[in-house]
Amino acid sequence: MGRPVLLFLGFLIPGFAVPVPLALRALSNLHLSTSVVSRPAVVMEYSIHYIQQKVDHFGFKTDKTFKQRYLIADRHWKRDGGSILFYTGNEGDIIWFCNNTGFMWDVAEELKAMLVFAEHRYYGESLPFGANSFKDSRHLNFLTSEQALADFAELIKYLKRTVPGADNQPVIAVGGSYGGMLAAWFRMQYPHVVVGALAASAPIWQFEDLVPCGVFMEIVTTDFRKSDPDCSESIRRSWDAINRLSTTGAGLHWLSEALQLCTPLTNSQDVQRLKDWISETWVNLAMVDYPYESNFLQPLPAWPVKVVCQYLKNPSVSDTQLLQNIFKALNVYYNYSGQAMCLNMSEISTSSLGYLGWSYQACTEMVMPLCTNGVDDMFEPHTWDLKKFSDDCFNLWGVKPRPSWITTMYGGKNISSHTNIIFSNGDLDPWSGGGVTKNITDTLVAITIREGAHHLDLRANNAFDPMSVLLARSLEVKYMKQWIRDFYDSLRKKH
Ligand SMILES: *[C@@H]1O[C@H](CO)[C@@H](O)[C@H](O)[C@H]1NC(C)=O
Ligand SMILES: *[C@@H]1O[C@H](CO)[C@@H](O)[C@H](O)[C@H]1NC(C)=O
Ligand SMILES: *[C@@H]1O[C@H](CO)[C@@H](O)[C@H](O)[C@H]1NC(C)=O
Ligand SMILES: *[C@@H]1O[C@H](CO)[C@@H](O)[C@H](O)[C@H]1NC(C)=O
Ligand SMILES: *[C@@H]1O[C@H](CO)[C@@H](O)[C@H](O)[C@H]1NC(C)=O
Repeated sequence: MGRPVLLFLGFLIPGFAVPVPLALRALSNLHLSTSVVSRPAVVMEYSIHYIQQKVDHFGFKTDKTFKQRYLIADRHWKRDGGSILFYTGNEGDIIWFCNNTGFMWDVAEELKAMLVFAEHRYYGESLPFGANSFKDSRHLNFLTSEQALADFAELIKYLKRTVPGADNQPVIAVGGSYGGMLAAWFRMQYPHVVVGALAASAPIWQFEDLVPCGVFMEIVTTDFRKSDPDCSESIRRSWDAINRLSTTGAGLHWLSEALQLCTPLTNSQDVQRLKDWISETWVNLAMVDYPYESNFLQPLPAWPVKVVCQYLKNPSVSDTQLLQNIFKALNVYYNYSGQAMCLNMSEISTSSLGYLGWSYQACTEMVMPLCTNGVDDMFEPHTWDLKKFSDDCFNLWGVKPRPSWITTMYGGKNISSHTNIIFSNGDLDPWSGGGVTKNITDTLVAITIREGAHHLDLRANNAFDPMSVLLARSLEVKYMKQWIRDFYDSLRKKH
């Protein structure tokens, strides 16, 4: 298995770029980050800790334990009237999420909050079986959202027991993307442990048929079309242009040169990989279409979709001209730094995300159907084929997905009996299609951010933040303060 992460990146299912990582690919040019990243306004000082967790919270057969990593930042924490903001870690290195969740750092002082960032099992350093964790389905058996939530609950209990002053404080779960789903589910399953949850860009309805499978790629397309209708049309036409050029050896050679690929295309599988890789690039750009220069997945300019679309203004050109334009557009994503020697279709840009772990999760619980029709979106048509998906998963991991388990476990759309969850979504974010974008009850509230891409609200304050995200953040803080007040009020009533 040369590239076991294929599912995660979308190459497992030929002909279709499957779910791009929820939390995405990242930082291929780490060494450049200081020059292009806007530096956080607050100092991020934290201490690193480990807690011994049971490998299996739900059975009694094994006593095995492992070390879960977590971070604590208590510079602004007040024992008197304070709070605890608890980041429910997702599919990657917790330090990377800590680095990219400036919002928590920005509000810590106002909420007198201790910040805790808990790493998700099987990611970063929190590996239940060390180097053997991904060896086979037996070792991976304990990689589920339920086990991860149980880890979080145990950790909070432990902190309350051992950190003087923490015992009588309200805890609020915060998370983005898959971590946002975990934050919401944590409040649903453990309402006695957290008083509320901020679930940013959490596609809790991207399961089964809760939302149409095409909505994700339609939003990607809308982002490009809003920038310029000729842009999405250029992309739509590029697939056939690639197909036509790929029919001859000379055409393959031309394409490899024109796109400056590190490895030349030699057969139809390579061509499919090329199309998947290009699709994934447009998806990633939609997700990180932030209003300022940033380096979440790649070093990128402000409003990168707009920059890309500058090169795709004319769909009615020859195939070769169109692909030369596509190359210039790809270069915005892969070569903003000016350092790329060639474009590498197999480059996995970050070690901060756990591709193996997410591939397994996508093949078990996290089955998120995606499809395209080429009409409402700018991609080649591709239906969602659960049978094929399941077979591919079986070949890869020796397990078959249980696509309806998540809705059985967490309620699907029937969640109105829960309380105190904020669902925030950016209109530009393709994952908003599977998110909660309408208020469900007074305490299950949806906040939409018109100019927001993937959990923009969780990022640090920035001078170029649009008004919509400033409003969203202030509303989020307002709700969190209310939960904290309610907690202390009920504590007083008890005494
Ligand atoms: C987090 O940020 C620090 C400071 O900028 C940097 O040194 C470190 O490499 C980052 N770690 C990750 C995993 O992103
Ligand atoms: C990346 O940008 C630099 C500077 O503009 C350029 O010299 C180089 O050829 C580009 N790389 C690719 C693969 O286009
Ligand atoms: C492309 O990326 C892969 C995976 O990171 C790496 O092994 C390979 O050396 C790269 N190829 C080139 C030509 O840079
Ligand atoms: C949600 O409730 C509706 C109406 O009561 C019901 O038809 C549906 O099966 C429920 N869904 C789940 C996942 O329980
Ligand atoms: C949900 O309700 C809150 C409070 O009334 C409001 O601020 C917010 O805009 C509503 N959200 C949506 C998506 O309508």
